[in-house]
Amino acid sequence: MIKIMFVCLGNICRSPMAEFIFKHIAAERGGAFFAASSAVSSEEEGNSVYPPAASILARHGISCEGKRAVRFNARDYEHYDYVVCMDTRNVRAICRMTNNDPLGKVSRLLDFSDNPRDISDPWYTRDFETAYSDIYEGCEALYDYLMKKGAVS
Ligand code: 4NP
Repeated sequence: MIKIMFVCLGNICRSPMAEFIFKHIAAERGGAFFAASSAVSSEEEGNSVYPPAASILARHGISCEGKRAVRFNARDYEHYDYVVCMDTRNVRAICRMTNNDPLGKVSRLLDFSDNPRDISDPWYTRDFETAYSDIYEGCEALYDYLMKKGAVS
């Protein structure tokens, strides 16, 4: 069982989208994964997924019901195999919280793709379509990477 923690700033837009898109891909295609998501800030703690993010997931047949924002905890670093951030700022924040990622678990989601880049924050850009397609691209690339490494169902 491979354990993945997706991380963004608030845990109400990008990282919950990544969590539920990844779970959707894994449910359709197979593989032994556990996925969750969390925030580097405590700003949105306890809040549900931001409605425009939840509705774009719903339009693609993906539910995020019941998800509430939680903050990344230093113990998560021990528990999870991969800490997959949405942008470079998140990576820096997680490195500060984990004594500089001694086990090399931290990366950006789109580092797994052919075109490594940040996922722009739709909270500021208001472009939830681009966020969805970038996150979907990253989740597929991450899934393919892990399956090649032997994450069998
Ligand atoms: P997220 O977006 O990091 O993709 O969840 C944000 C949500 C809320 C805030 C910032 C980013 N905020 O400052 O409250």
